[in-house]
Amino acid sequence: ASTVQQRVELKRRKALEGGGEKRTEAQHARGKLTARERVALLLDPDSFTELDMFVEHRCSDFGMEADHNKYPGDSVVTGHGRINGRLVYVFSQDFTVFGGSLSGAHAQKICKIMDQAMTVGAPVIGLNDSGGARIQEGVESLAGYADIFLRNVMASGVVPQISMIMGPCAGGAVYSPALTDFTFMVKDTSYLFITGPDVVKSVTNEDVTQEELGGAKTHTSVSGVAHRAFENDIDALLSLRDFFNFLPLSNKDPPPVTECHDPSDRLVPGLDTLVPFETTKAYDMLDIVHSIVDERDFFEIMPNYAKNIVVGFARMNGRTVGIVGNQPKVASGCLDINSSVKGARFVRFCDAFNIPIITFVDVPGFLPGTAQEYGGIIRHGAKLLYAFAEATVPKITIITRKAYGGAYDVMSSKHLRGDVNYAWPTAEVAVMGAKGAVQIIFRGKENQAEAEAEYVEKFANPFPAAVRGFVDDIIQPSTTRLRICRDLDVLASKKQTNPWKKHANIPL
Ligand code: COA
Repeated sequence: ASTVQQRVELKRRKALEGGGEKRTEAQHARGKLTARERVALLLDPDSFTELDMFVEHRCSDFGMEADHNKYPGDSVVTGHGRINGRLVYVFSQDFTVFGGSLSGAHAQKICKIMDQAMTVGAPVIGLNDSGGARIQEGVESLAGYADIFLRNVMASGVVPQISMIMGPCAGGAVYSPALTDFTFMVKDTSYLFITGPDVVKSVTNEDVTQEELGGAKTHTSVSGVAHRAFENDIDALLSLRDFFNFLPLSNKDPPPVTECHDPSDRLVPGLDTLVPFETTKAYDMLDIVHSIVDERDFFEIMPNYAKNIVVGFARMNGRTVGIVGNQPKVASGCLDINSSVKGARFVRFCDAFNIPIITFVDVPGFLPGTAQEYGGIIRHGAKLLYAFAEATVPKITIITRKAYGGAYDVMSSKHLRGDVNYAWPTAEVAVMGAKGAVQIIFRGKENQAEAEAEYVEKFANPFPAAVRGFVDDIIQPSTTRLRICRDLDVLASKKQTNPWKKHANIPL
């Protein structure tokens, strides 16, 4: 028995060493932490329970069967632990072992924790740092990817799934992060692409660097593939802990309620004068969001992509909420293709995980033009409309200024089952702005200015919507926080279901 014990100790020690001192040094020299250092930072101290430390790859080609090519645990560290006391499953790819490449055994370890996470109802966090499919294993590793993809899809909407890209992630490997709810990246040390710069050069003759092709800046501001980027490994993992606190553990779990020191009846006098008198003048929707939520704490999702819409998580009286707001500061807050998709995906996450949605509306409409029409704004705008319509979580909507045209309908309107819809006194709900409207209905007529004044008098105010009950109340902006907190209390017991279906068919 003592020899078994000795072998156990030896293997454990070897597993803890990963790919060895030299490769660990190389990892550190790049400004990256090791797989185990990352897990330790992410989880509460001493909470990590590791699984499958003895699993080894089973490849016997290319000399892989040799002892020196076997690493206990192979190229990924898996298990469960706690973040602020709440259960989470985690896998952390070990770049020091075969470049973190995915063997059949590696995939099997990931699948095991995903399956467990599903049965107990806990989120899965993946820390990705991998050279892709284990080349020596061929189809075995491709099968491993597919096994993970299938689980990503099955887990979608059941438990939150988060990917943190902390090194290379290329080829087939990118599709697991793409299927998860949130993809975060570390600046300068991580990249995501289907094929690297060399293949791009040979196929399309483009010269592009790794960073330009798939670095954090590209994916958080151009492609919209990643939701946020962090400065370095430490910043990324600590931010991930903060982010995790917003999330419920599963679709059966209510969103967490934390102790709140910010009075729920706090008035925000600044809001009474925040919206400029001139309807074409911009203001920052983030000022409204920050001033209303608990302790100004807003975790923005995709802050550098489609900035004409603002989305993210916050708390109201300790309760997690999802915030959606048109941003008048960027493109007048118009809805376009990218902002519609960004908003729709966020709304659907909130709805899947029981997170109430608070929507701030100041939207002059959809962005006109051939670029948008050819790009399919009809199809993509429909996504946001669809997402708000199907959502059954508590929905509170505040029209701060413009709610024009179809965009008025889209933005969590009463007609899409908004539970509570407010207008500020500055709200104008109309088919379009006064100038455009008068040019159409009084084309060629004299006294355009007079007609415009009449239109403004009739439509550029909250009353046409309020008299029809399309907004429930016209509220003093300074009372917005108080009203929302009170409504969320009432709506906490909201129950609403959609008709049975195999699954819906959202326009893609
Ligand atoms: N399969 C097996 N081993 C791999 C691997 C893979 N896909 N990717 C990397 N490795 C190994 C390397 O052989 C090397 O082993 P060593 O430490 O024993 O020398 C180690 O991982 C580190 O790789 P290295 O190339 O030295 O690191 P790098 O930082 O210079 O480059 C990559 C990293 C990911 C860019 C590079 O390894 C690469 O291009 N890998 C292949 C990527 C790919 O095309 N994968 C298939 C797509 S699905």
